[in-house]
Amino acid sequence: MCTENCQPAAALRQCELHINGETARRTEAIGFTLGRLLEPGDVICLAGELGAGKTVLSRGIGAGWGASPPLTSPTYNLVHEHERPTDGGRLYHLDLYRISGARDAESLGIHEILDSGASIIFEWPERILELLPAARLWIDILPRQDDGRELILQARGGRYTALIKALRRKLTQTAHVAGA
Ligand SMILES: Nc1ncnc2c1ncn2[C@@H]1O[C@H](COP(=O)(O)OP(=O)(O)O)[C@@H](O)[C@H]1O
Ligand SMILES: [Mg+2]
Repeated sequence: MCTENCQPAAALRQCELHINGETARRTEAIGFTLGRLLEPGDVICLAGELGAGKTVLSRGIGAGWGASPPLTSPTYNLVHEHERPTDGGRLYHLDLYRISGARDAESLGIHEILDSGASIIFEWPERILELLPAARLWIDILPRQDDGRELILQARGGRYTALIKALRRKLTQTAHVAGA
């Protein structure tokens, strides 16, 4: 899952980050820290089964980014567009659970959204894998037996390697990073 610039071992540390989301609050707080680092055009893919915590993480990302009102589950409205009051920046939050595939996503205006220059969070990105940009941050959310969540972040492309690096720096201060 790494970029061509990455080699095994040392590269894995740059391109990948494992974080413990011990509680829903913690997962949301991790999202908040990530959201503060988002830049226009960033694409964040959140993968995990129903109830894994994609929307919890999204809510944190949205809050850190500066969305008002807060992000909610977009299950009935597949596309939520948020504007940041401070500078008019835009953040899209899409839940693709109910779409049947790429053609369906095209009718949602997915190309326009991807071309908009806004930051984008996808829940169920697997549904439109072939439409996603090659450069992206992919986050797998894996429920653990103790109710916690393991968040596995993988960067594809230099921007996301830098994003992971910045996030690691912020989080190591608060010990969320497994093995940091
Ligand atoms: N460690 C945790 N991280 C995230 N969510 C958690 C955690 N522990 C329990 N939860 C709960 O799991 C549920 C996740 O729901 P949600 O974010 O809507 O899932 P998804 O969007 O992946 O379907 C929430 O009810 C949340 O409170
Ligand atoms: Mg959800």
